[in-house]
Amino acid sequence: MTATLDITSAASVIGEQLGGCRPRIAIILGSGLGQLADRIERATNIPYADIPGFPVSTVAGHAGRLVAGSIESCDVIALSGRFHLYEGHSAATAGLPVRVAHALGARVLFVSNAAGGVRSTLRPGDLMIIEDHINLMWRNPLIGPVVDGDERFPDMSEPYDHGLRSILREVALDIGIPVTEGVYAGLLGPSYETPAEVRMLRWMGADAVGMSTVPEVLTARAIGMRVAGVSCITNHAAGMTNQPLSHHEVLEVGLRVQESFERLVRGFVGKARGTR
Ligand code: HPA
Repeated sequence: MTATLDITSAASVIGEQLGGCRPRIAIILGSGLGQLADRIERATNIPYADIPGFPVSTVAGHAGRLVAGSIESCDVIALSGRFHLYEGHSAATAGLPVRVAHALGARVLFVSNAAGGVRSTLRPGDLMIIEDHINLMWRNPLIGPVVDGDERFPDMSEPYDHGLRSILREVALDIGIPVTEGVYAGLLGPSYETPAEVRMLRWMGADAVGMSTVPEVLTARAIGMRVAGVSCITNHAAGMTNQPLSHHEVLEVGLRVQESFERLVRGFVGKARGTR
């Protein structure tokens, strides 16, 4: 459970180091997509180890630091490294960075992740704007006493904001990056899916599958943040080729698409910063 105390003390430790930075947009960087954190202007880097209540990230490809600064003249907070449920973290802990970013002023959450392609037309290296998700983690970060200001029963009829999705599509078109849209299924992991599970996911209407994002988005919606998200398709989901899946492959494809991913995020921030 996330104590209000954790949020307040994390936000105040970070806030003291931000100088004049007033973050409007929080960006969570998925596996292999961390490069953007190094390209933030006027950056303040804060290792998770220095933030009260933040566990230290244990997964290769997730550096575990918060970077506050500016992208396209918009103040942002980037979270490089997230808290996965498969690491043993609670769903509330997975949502903690979102609450802290909100306490520091962010009202838009941009999530990114690495995901396996369930829809047969998706290829490794494709970028997919998330239009909706299916929570198959059997966990919810909002279980327990209502945290100050939360909705008890948040509406989830538009988890990924319509206007922000349009911005992503426009930016992709402007800069010539092909994108697709689809539904992300969030599973607990850490084992990858079986071929039968992948067939089930396809039957359920999922286009991509991963092990993150859902708790963060549920948290953001409960506190009224608008959300946009992009999955980087790093592999065909299990059983769709005769290759076994590996985290190494996931990171490698992430690295390969970093440039286009970064341009998409920059364009997004530039356009989303003025929206309400
Ligand atoms: N399944 C689950 N999570 C993932 C995958 C996958 O195929 N690829 C990257 N993250």
